[in-house]
Amino acid sequence: MDKLTVNDLDAQGKRVFVRVDFNVPLEDGRVTDDSRIRAALPTIRHLSAQGARVVLASHLGRPDGKVQDGLRLRPVGERLSQLLRRNVPVTGDALGAGTEDAVKRLRPGEVLLLENLRFHAAEEKNDPKFAAQLASYADVYVNDAFGTAHRPHASTVGVAKLLPAYAGLLMEAEIAALSKLLENPEHPYAAILGGAKVSGKLNVLHNLLTKVDILVLGGGMANTFLLAQGRSVGKSLAEHDMVEEARRILADAEKRGVRVVLPVDVIVAKEVTRGTEYKTLPAEKIPASWHIVDVGKQTLARIEEWLADARTVVWNGPLGVFEIPVFGAGTRHVATLLADKASDGATVVVGGGDSVAALQQQGLADRMTHISTGGGASLEFLEGRELPGVAVLLDRPGDAVPSRDEAPQPAAAVKGSR
Ligand code: 3PG
Repeated sequence: MDKLTVNDLDAQGKRVFVRVDFNVPLEDGRVTDDSRIRAALPTIRHLSAQGARVVLASHLGRPDGKVQDGLRLRPVGERLSQLLRRNVPVTGDALGAGTEDAVKRLRPGEVLLLENLRFHAAEEKNDPKFAAQLASYADVYVNDAFGTAHRPHASTVGVAKLLPAYAGLLMEAEIAALSKLLENPEHPYAAILGGAKVSGKLNVLHNLLTKVDILVLGGGMANTFLLAQGRSVGKSLAEHDMVEEARRILADAEKRGVRVVLPVDVIVAKEVTRGTEYKTLPAEKIPASWHIVDVGKQTLARIEEWLADARTVVWNGPLGVFEIPVFGAGTRHVATLLADKASDGATVVVGGGDSVAALQQQGLADRMTHISTGGGASLEFLEGRELPGVAVLLDRPGDAVPSRDEAPQPAAAVKGSR
């Protein structure tokens, strides 16, 4: 990676502000999926073991600049404390005298978590005063919040401009894994894209078309492509204003020799609800009053056949209405197929909440080459864009790996002073 990481930093005795992405699902005051917390543990442990005083900061949800008790980070602090086997207190607010005091009282190796940054509207506005207040807590900045690296906020960009800024270990792993999908991937290379909308994945589609050999389309977005092929999709979710764009993408794929797999058979349902009537039909025979809710078995067989030789696969988005288990069979089948491919030595990288949930439900997550903790961030990365939270980190000088002594120190000369 061309950015300095925590491995280039001597953190002993330093106060380190670590931006993490602890935007995790909660239910009844408990964390229901702690993957993002676990993913940040290597960086936190690394810094703490070096004797750094670690100030963690995250957002949770979208409280729009107002305090919302349901979005306090206390349950996250509790889960983190269990995982680290040490108490991690959560401050009552990201700012204020009490928090400043708690930061000052941190001893080497101790970890503190600031309250939800987005309780302050200044966070999302990248307000310079807010960034300066956060920066005043630390000597060094570390960004391990890959999932938020596409947001140009105070804690992802503003603070990083005021302190020497390093990538965390999760950030490094994410960038390494996702970069491989864009630079010299092993062929044949397949992308499986699902989810509701073409519009949200348009730029990814355009960029991946220049890299992949096979493009599998599923989920609601496939319906728009079926429309582009002149089929009718009944009452299914589809973006009628994107049909022309879908046609252009199919034409571009053909020009580039990319094989596109669209559903040939589908599960259709009377309603998109649990307990409704459903059946399998060929994709060209969708009745006007039914909804497409999953891919059918013939489509899955076709995907399996076309992916048989793939050496690299990237998957983002479910192939059906995965949240209703009976319409999640296609998504679960792809999860199993990809676990087998990864076990056979193919590089398999997965991003997006539902795809990752499908893997986790079946206990297959550990078999993947890499599971991205970023939804929007991983998509923007795959679009080929530089993420603002990454761009702002210190560049690795030249090609040589600097020793710790050579690495930039809290350096006004490098990034401006506090
Ligand atoms: C995410 O969950 O994708 C990140 O934490 C970013 O959250 P946001 O979309 O609310 O900025």
